[in-house]
Amino acid sequence: MNIGIFGAGQMGGAMIKGWLHSGKIQPQEIFVKGGHSATAANLQKELSFHLVDSLKEFAACDVLVIAVGTTAVEPILHAIKEANFEKKLPIISIAAGVSLKEMQAIMGTDYPLAQAIPNTPVQIGKGLIAITYSEALQAKQQEVIDQCLYFLGDLLETPAEQLDIVSSVAGCGPAFVDIFMEAMADGAVLHGMSRKLAYEVIAKMMVGSASLALESGQHPGALKDGVTSPGGTTIRGVAALEKNGFRHAVISGVSGLVGE
Ligand SMILES: NC(=O)c1ccc[n+]([C@@H]2O[C@H](COP(=O)([O-])OP(=O)(O)OC[C@H]3O[C@@H](n4cnc5c(N)ncnc54)[C@H](OP(=O)(O)O)[C@@H]3O)[C@@H](O)[C@H]2O)c1
Repeated sequence: MNIGIFGAGQMGGAMIKGWLHSGKIQPQEIFVKGGHSATAANLQKELSFHLVDSLKEFAACDVLVIAVGTTAVEPILHAIKEANFEKKLPIISIAAGVSLKEMQAIMGTDYPLAQAIPNTPVQIGKGLIAITYSEALQAKQQEVIDQCLYFLGDLLETPAEQLDIVSSVAGCGPAFVDIFMEAMADGAVLHGMSRKLAYEVIAKMMVGSASLALESGQHPGALKDGVTSPGGTTIRGVAALEKNGFRHAVISGVSGLVGE
């Protein structure tokens, strides 16, 4: 599968790394158009994909990904329209600030489009990608889009009106989790555990807990109840967290993501 991508910054670069990490996409199948600085060219030296000068070079692609900041999306869509490729190349935009409706206003309602918001674990194929498809998308075109993104992690079809909150939780959540890991490790180091071991233990504990929640389908509260024996150490830790407003802090953090 040939993938064309505009932008090789934080997220574009993470996606390119994810495709190569999957082993299913080779460097010669990735066509990258960078912006004004040397970001894409520098990454190309490391990853050996095609660096594209002219839009015409995208003609050999099966799908186009737009991974640039909000203001750059509109001119790129106009440029794709003007390039008038032989077939309508399905477009996936990952720009959080440009809705499918806004893209359709430029490309037309019959153009195959998707808005997909990935998170940073895509670079190791463990991403969560919230996606909304345009109504006009044919089954074969959706297949191409899905195939391109499956290499990067799990796809979660999301109604357009929920894309913001889903992608905020999935996209910004890793920062919350990173802070939690760091804070828990600080506590462990305070009580004598080495820093290196603390990060390893905590990361593995979190992967295990999340996997158990997903695989068992149990309510998080029930899983917590299963670890808290009466008068035990776990419930004492939970009480200390709640006394310090843990739950409220997390809810406020999520509200902060949507600007409230
Ligand atoms: N970072 C995340 O975690 C994340 C998560 C989900 C979605 N997103 C979305 O992904 C998009 C990019 O975010 P980012 O964090 O990757 O930003 P970024 O690091 O600033 O990367 C954007 C890249 O786009 C390039 N660019 C600008 N204009 C271009 C053009 N006309 N043609 C080709 N490339 C162009 C820039 O290149 P130059 O600097 O060389 O000009 C830059 O490297 C945003 O719309 C954001 O909403 C980001």
